[in-house]
Amino acid sequence: MLTVKNVRKTYVLRNMTVQALRDASLVAEPGEITVVYGPSGSGKSVLFNLIAGFERPDMGEIIYNGLRIDRLTWRELISFRRGSLGYCMQKNIIFPRMKVVDNIALPLLIRGVNRVEARRRAEDLARKLNIEYTLYREGYTLSGGEQRRVVLARSLVTDPHLLLIDEPTSGVDEENKVYIWKTIKERVGGNTVTLIATHDEFIKERADKLFKIERGITMNI
Ligand SMILES: Nc1ncnc2c1ncn2[C@@H]1O[C@H](COP(=O)(O)OP(=O)(O)OP(=O)(O)O)[C@@H](O)[C@H]1O
Ligand SMILES: [Mg+2]
Repeated sequence: MLTVKNVRKTYVLRNMTVQALRDASLVAEPGEITVVYGPSGSGKSVLFNLIAGFERPDMGEIIYNGLRIDRLTWRELISFRRGSLGYCMQKNIIFPRMKVVDNIALPLLIRGVNRVEARRRAEDLARKLNIEYTLYREGYTLSGGEQRRVVLARSLVTDPHLLLIDEPTSGVDEENKVYIWKTIKERVGGNTVTLIATHDEFIKERADKLFKIERGITMNI
């Protein structure tokens, strides 16, 4: 289970402060898909970065299976991410000169899985996400929507227990949204906590649980 309790995050810039999150709270249960939706700039990506432990909140608590993410040391964070987390970030970060198959397989290769097995699992996901035809091309040759699915596949390839997916369908057509949804849904095992941030009605309609966020404040609906 993931619990976010009264989280606040303020950025202090040179001559102003930005209140990215004022009071964000949510509970995401294993086996369910929890969707956080809200307008651009409402704090979705900041919230996900805090859950992933990339940044720390000013106030509040983030608890994953009893673990206070907001209090972990850097060393503990590395092991938390390696052991539990799959994070499909909003931005498409792809190694341009690396083959797509290895871009997807990378988290497995880092964990010491042999290349044949790692590629097999990457290929399987690519097939489901309808990007199989790109697998043996270099990353830079892909379109935005294709890259989106590579980044999503990379976050799924380790079968993580905590899955954060920030805007899975941006730049993707309606037909491929169906593949994306099916692939995510299929991966959600009984003990997987899955969070998706989106503005997309297609995803919103299919959520098990919905949280609305506006100007850094969450609402349970
Ligand atoms: N590093 C930062 N420094 C200052 N302000 C930031 C920083 N990161 C985010 N913000 C601000 O925090 C607010 C929330 O940003 P966030 O990226 O979480 O929005 P979002 O809901 O993900 O939007 P979108 O739907 O466009 O992705 C925005 O006003 C943004 O400008
Ligand atoms: Mg965002």
